[in-house]
Amino acid sequence: TLIRISDDALARACGADALAAAFEKKGCEVHRVSSWGMQWLEPLVEIDGKGFGPATPADVDAILDGSSDLAIGMIEDHPFIASQQRLTFARAGKTRPTSLEDYEATGGWSGLKRARNIGPERIIEEVLHSGLRGRGGAGFPAGIKWRTVAGAAGPQKYIVANADEGDSATFADRMVMEGDPYALIEGMAIAGEAVGADQGYVYLRSEYPDAIAKMNRALALCADIIAPFKCEVRVGAGAYVCGEETSLLNSLEGKRGEVRAKPPLPALEGLFGKPTVVNNILTLAAVPHILGEGGANDYESLGMGRSKGTMPIQLAGNIKHGGLYETAFGITLGELVNDIGGGTQSGRPVKAVQVGGPLGAYLHPDQFDIKFDYEEYTASEALIGHGGITVFDDTADMGGMARFAMEFCAAESCGKCTPCRIGSVRGVEIIDRMRAGRQRDTLEQQPQMHNTPKQDRSAEDEITLLADLCDVMKSSSLCALGGFTPYPVLSAMRHWPEDFSDNPQAVE
Ligand code: NAI
Ligand code: SF4
Repeated sequence: TLIRISDDALARACGADALAAAFEKKGCEVHRVSSWGMQWLEPLVEIDGKGFGPATPADVDAILDGSSDLAIGMIEDHPFIASQQRLTFARAGKTRPTSLEDYEATGGWSGLKRARNIGPERIIEEVLHSGLRGRGGAGFPAGIKWRTVAGAAGPQKYIVANADEGDSATFADRMVMEGDPYALIEGMAIAGEAVGADQGYVYLRSEYPDAIAKMNRALALCADIIAPFKCEVRVGAGAYVCGEETSLLNSLEGKRGEVRAKPPLPALEGLFGKPTVVNNILTLAAVPHILGEGGANDYESLGMGRSKGTMPIQLAGNIKHGGLYETAFGITLGELVNDIGGGTQSGRPVKAVQVGGPLGAYLHPDQFDIKFDYEEYTASEALIGHGGITVFDDTADMGGMARFAMEFCAAESCGKCTPCRIGSVRGVEIIDRMRAGRQRDTLEQQPQMHNTPKQDRSAEDEITLLADLCDVMKSSSLCALGGFTPYPVLSAMRHWPEDFSDNPQAVE
């Protein structure tokens, strides 16, 4: 019997290796494939398209004799999978990650072959036409970035894949690298063809050892196919801010991961001062499909407004059905959390949903009709970021979460600019005072702040002070870390003011 079990890090953490060994012991042939992304079912066993999960070695006999109650039917018919539009994740669950044979059999390298035939100008035209925007969070049109690099002077240019996936609730980059590494490599080689770069780097976080191993193996196996394009993995030492493109470039150059002022844009002066494409993993992994025959039209026809194509959305936190859900832009938050995610895992009511990682706003269930679209989120003072969704039930303490946002910023700040380096520390202090209701009795120990006389500072003054601080951080931080930290803070204050005070009446 042929058994398919994922070797994705999440499946392995849930016991997939022991499970695979147990099937092998029974004489079965086991293929280690990528994950379908239904994380609550991992480790998921697949036999002739039928799924069983989450399984343990104790379930092996029952699965083989057909008596297991872990059966979920045909995996592709499961509503979580059947309702998706998988383009970037088209191979998820279906292929052995580093098998060149599997990659080729599923259309692999056809985008690169076509790209080499049509040449740089048409590649860029097709990427522009597809509407593909940067999936790291900022949503900048990939084709415009590529055109800028293509038009920049100089013989040496670089392609850098940003795999420093650090947002809470995100794992899509990891799943691409562990599950379909050639798709990323093909996307990078196409980008190289488009802009005239023959060297690529994958900047990968050290916390992803499985992805590092798979990428290295895949790169060694496909070196001849992508030549003359060359590509290497570089492992970061672990800093959230190294996901910001300029500090990433500093880190790649062996320097401290400190943010650089822009301009100059990396597109013109990037790695070692050379024109550089810095794109997120999901942006690059979407490219082979777009460059495939008719792919750009197909991509452009999906989505809403200026948000074209599909987004691999990641459902996590307190959610019943967590996992990878790729769909066209336009889906509402309510559909994602309630219909697809099945609500909270605890079974309690949803209190808040954070979209876009630690710098994303907390959305209230009243906002569940918001559509997944860069512009709609921006209009609601929120961001879709890298597509990570963290669900909280009604036991969540949103004042504590706002404090965490400031604390996180203080810990991860690169220290280059004052609003972020100092502002985040002051932010923690203000929230602590608001929550302890001790603004009056500890005034003597507090430094004089803003222009509020110490003796007059009331709960309302603390709110004003925090709002002022957020304004300053938003408008004058050098990068998104300091500039976006106010989003979770202000949204939590707006929707759950009672969580900021020991006395709910004091905070209106
Ligand atoms: P940005 O808006 O400054 O730039 C976006 C990209 O477009 C950059 O690569 C920039 O170099 C490029 N660009 C801008 N103008 C250009 C031009 N005229 N020609 C060519 N290229 C141009 O945004 P930034 O600071 O890169 O990213 C902020 C975003 O990062 C936020 O929206 C946030 O959602 C996201 N973020 C993502 C995280 C993750 O883990 N993926 C973590 C934290 C924040
Ligand atoms: Fe560094 Fe923070 Fe300023 Fe960004 S906002 S440059 S992380 S100090």
